[in-house]
Amino acid sequence: MTSADPTSAIRTVASTQSEMTEIILPNDANTLGNLLGGRLMHFIDLTGAIAAYRHTRTHVVTAAMDHIDFIQPVHVGDLLILKSSVNRAFNTSVEVGVKVWVEDSKTGSLLHVASAYLVFVAIDKQGTRQKVPALQPETPTEIRRYNDALRRREHREAEAARRKQAKAAIAAQSKNAN
Ligand SMILES: CC(C)(COP(=O)(O)OP(=O)(O)OC[C@H]1O[C@@H](n2cnc3c(N)ncnc32)[C@H](O)[C@@H]1OP(=O)(O)O)[C@@H](O)C(=O)NCCC(=O)NCCS
Repeated sequence: MTSADPTSAIRTVASTQSEMTEIILPNDANTLGNLLGGRLMHFIDLTGAIAAYRHTRTHVVTAAMDHIDFIQPVHVGDLLILKSSVNRAFNTSVEVGVKVWVEDSKTGSLLHVASAYLVFVAIDKQGTRQKVPALQPETPTEIRRYNDALRRREHREAEAARRKQAKAAIAAQSKNAN
């Protein structure tokens, strides 16, 4: 079985790569004619979900989207290019990286607009979580992203534990105050 085979237990990054091109229309923009941040996040979510789907070949839900910097404004009439691929597969989740460029409509030059990391969880029709295939990184860039994805997962887990502790401390304080 090869990783191009959808039933393969191992996937390559290339088999998950996805690309979407969108023309920015007035409905996507604010009153200054700039692409709305929420609309950009929607495009990022969709492009990321397609890479996750290509990896898992089942339903996926977005569990998290990391911090995004909006580096450059995008204008009505611009072409937005989004590329995504799976960085690492865990047990029932995958981390996907999405990079976004704007193509200048007159010159065709590309400008980096935003990047984001998202975590998708694989589920079946009943909503039961599904084990995901392993990912085999091949190129030096894929290996770097694979290693960085583990560090980000550890950071997310530490942050979640910190938030849980802070919430428990606030609940205990308000219980003692009553
Ligand atoms: C995402 C969801 C399925 C996780 O379910 P859960 O019961 O909390 O699952 P667990 O805590 O046992 O974690 C399951 C996996 O999700 C990952 N996960 C859960 N919450 C996460 C978060 N906030 N950030 C990153 N990963 C997360 C866990 O690391 C774990 O991964 P692993 O199996 O690869 O180790 C659930 O919270 C959910 O359905 N959320 C709503 C999703 C949604 O509606 N998204 C928007 C529309 S698609």
